[in-house]
Amino acid sequence: MSRSVSQPPWHLSGHEKREQVREMFESISPTYDAMNSVMSLGLHRRWRAYAVRLLALEPGDSALDLCCGTGDFAYPLRKAVGSQGAIVGLDFSAQMLARAKQKDAPMTPTLGDACALPFQEERFDAITVGWGLRNVADLDACLRECHRVLKPGGRLVSVDMAVPTNPVARLGARVVGGWILPTLGALVGRREAYTYLPKSTESFDSPESLARRMTQVGFTEPLIRRLFFGNIAVVRCVKP
Ligand SMILES: C[S@@+](CC[C@H](N)C(=O)[O-])C[C@H]1O[C@@H](n2cnc3c(N)ncnc32)[C@H](O)[C@@H]1O
Repeated sequence: MSRSVSQPPWHLSGHEKREQVREMFESISPTYDAMNSVMSLGLHRRWRAYAVRLLALEPGDSALDLCCGTGDFAYPLRKAVGSQGAIVGLDFSAQMLARAKQKDAPMTPTLGDACALPFQEERFDAITVGWGLRNVADLDACLRECHRVLKPGGRLVSVDMAVPTNPVARLGARVVGGWILPTLGALVGRREAYTYLPKSTESFDSPESLARRMTQVGFTEPLIRRLFFGNIAVVRCVKP
């Protein structure tokens, strides 16, 4: 059954989801960084640094930051791979990439789709994806592409929102997601985009189910870490 384009993106898949999500990120790009800092109480940098540590990168390694947005993952990645290392940031929103360029994020920005990567096989030592997998139109295709472009022994890590398992934390997340985030979004004229965040989190895979998907496309050694009272999930796996 084909779905109407008026449906919210967390109910969509395929081309319709891709286009709605892309347009949404194009529209919120000017306020994305500020909102990110407010919503995460400034902790998003620590979460990224933690995820990068799980990759055990070495100076000179090459990394891909998938769904790179405004390029914030490039900073801890650059620390890990040093000036000799290579970092490519890929995103399908030209406006988000433009913000990354303005900030001079230490990576090579590339416009492209996470479900059809414009890279040869076995090019990267590691891939990061921050708050990205929830948004892609075809998650399995995206994971297969990650597997394809990683070298044997390469690592993939995702950082994203999660629904806490603790009932008190879950209640807190509902209040924040159902009321505070949409209100903050309304203040910057983007209520729908900040309604999308909690809604898409609720309808996305649990960390355990994401880890299972990773193993289904050929990854091994899935590792799950929950941060911030279970609201943030870090899932890392390895290409054998
Ligand atoms: C929530 S932002 C996260 C940005 C960045 N990773 C961060 O940690 O701040 C999600 C990003 O994913 C990008 N994105 C979503 N689906 C994509 C796809 N299929 N291909 C490439 N980028 C995509 C969006 O344009 C957006 O910049």
